Amino acid sequence: MRMRRLLVIILAAGEGTRMKSALPKVMHKVAGRSMVGHVLETAKAAGAAEIAVVIGPDHDQVAAEARRLAPEASVFVQRERLGTAHAVLAAREALERGYDDILIMYGDTPLVRPQTLEALRAPLAEGAGLAVLGFRPADPTGYGRLITQGDDLVAIREEKDASAAEKTIGLCNAGLMALDGALALGVLSGIGNANAKGEYYLTDAVESVIARGRPAAVWVAEAGEVAGVNTRAQLAEAEAVIQQRLRRAAMDGGATLVAPETVFFSADTTLGRDVVVEPNVVFGPGVAVADGVVIRAFSHLEGATLATGVSAGPFARLRPGAALGQGVHIGNFVEIKNADLAPGVKVNHLSYVGDSTVGEGTNIGAGSITCNYDGFNKHRTVIGANAFIGTNSLMVAPVTIGDGAYVGTGSVITDDVPADALAIGRARQVNKPGLAARLRERLQAIRKAAPES
Ligand code: UD1
Ligand code: CA
Repeated sequence: MRMRRLLVIILAAGEGTRMKSALPKVMHKVAGRSMVGHVLETAKAAGAAEIAVVIGPDHDQVAAEARRLAPEASVFVQRERLGTAHAVLAAREALERGYDDILIMYGDTPLVRPQTLEALRAPLAEGAGLAVLGFRPADPTGYGRLITQGDDLVAIREEKDASAAEKTIGLCNAGLMALDGALALGVLSGIGNANAKGEYYLTDAVESVIARGRPAAVWVAEAGEVAGVNTRAQLAEAEAVIQQRLRRAAMDGGATLVAPETVFFSADTTLGRDVVVEPNVVFGPGVAVADGVVIRAFSHLEGATLATGVSAGPFARLRPGAALGQGVHIGNFVEIKNADLAPGVKVNHLSYVGDSTVGEGTNIGAGSITCNYDGFNKHRTVIGANAFIGTNSLMVAPVTIGDGAYVGTGSVITDDVPADALAIGRARQVNKPGLAARLRERLQAIRKAAPES
C-alpha cells in the first residue's frame, strides 16, 4: 500500500495568559524540553512529510525553537487570533501543497504519543473525512463535547454554545484532529464565526465533512496523555506524567532505579543496561549513560556522556561537556565541566575540573581545582596520562602537566610541568622553635592588664 503523505500543522499562536509568564506558553518545558519541542518530535516520529507551525505575531522565540529542532519545518504567523480554524488556515500555503492526511496538533499538548496519532489517522485511509481525538476529563467544563451516534461523531459543541443536555456529555474534544487532505481547504474555508465566541471554530469541520457525505470518527485516549497545559499547575501535572513514562522506559531498558519517584529525567536522556541510579538524581538535557554505570545519590547531570563502568557521586555535578571515559570515578562534591576524562581517571573528592583534558589513569587528589577563568577568559588545563595531582592543588590555566608528572600537595601550578617531573608549587614550611609559647605568654599578659568587662 502506498504511504499516505502527511502534513502536521501545530497550532501555537495562543497567548497563554494563565501561565502569567514573559515566555510564550509553548516554550515552557517538561522533561527539559519545550512543549512545542515535544510536539515537533512527535510530529517527526509520526512520519510527517511537512511540519507547519502556526505562531503568534510576537513569538520569535517559538519560531527559533522550531528552526532549532526541526529546521525543515515551515513557520506561519497568525496575525489575529480569530479561532482554531483561522489558525489552521494561516498555514494555507502548506495545505495548498497537497497532502493525503492533515494532522492538527496543539503546541500546548505535549504528551501525545506517536502511536496515538497513528490510531487517529487510521480512519482516513478507510474513507473517513476526519477523526478527532476524544477523552474523558475528570471535569469536562470548558471543553468541546463530542456528540455521537453509535460509533460515529455527529458534531462537536463548544461549552459556550452547548445546551444543558449537551453539557452532561463526558466525552470531550482533546483538540487534535486528522483531516482528509483532499477536503481540508474546502472545509476550512467554509467555516464561519456565527457562534457564542465569534471565532472560527475548527470543530465545525465535523458537520461540514458529514454534509459532504463522509463519516467522522473518534479515537478515545487517556486523559493524562491528551490534556492541554494552560496553567503552571497543569505544567506540573504534565511533568509528573512524562516522568512516570521516562522512569518506566529506563527500567524497561534494563536500568535499576532504586527509588524511581525521586529520579528526574530529560526527554532525551539515554541509559544503557545495568545502569544503577540511586535516589534523588536529576538528569538535565543531553545526558548519555553507557552500560554498567553507577550514579550515586544526589547527583546532578547535564550535557554529560558517561562511558561503560563509570561511577559518579554521591553529590556529583556533571555539567555540559563532561565526557567521562570508561571506568572513570567521580566522587562526592566534585564538579566537572567541559572536560574530557580518559579511561580510569579518578577525581574522588571535593574538586573542580573545567575546560580540561585529563589523560588515562590520572588521579586528581581531594580539593584540587582547575582555575579556568581569569575574570575575562576561559583557559584550558591539559593533564597527561598516569599523572598524580596532590591534594588541594590549584592548576592555573592555561597550563599543561605532562604524562607521569607528580604535583605535590597544596601546589599552585602556574607553569607547565614536564612529563615525569615532580612539581612543588608552594613555599617551604618554616618552624620557629618556641615562638608559639612566647606569643601565648604575651597575650596572657595583655589580658591581665586590661580584663574584659
Ligand atoms: C479548543 C477546542 C475545544 C477543545 C479544546 C481542548 C475549538 C473551537 N475548540 O478549545 O473543542 O475541547 O480546544 O483543549 O477548536 N489557537 C491558535 N489561534 C487561535 C486560537 C487558538 O493558534 O486563533 C491555538 C492555541 O494556541 C491552542 C489551541 O489552538 O494551542 C487551542 O486554542 P484554545 O483557545 O485553547 O481553544 P479552546 O477554546 O480551549
Ligand atoms: Ca485551551
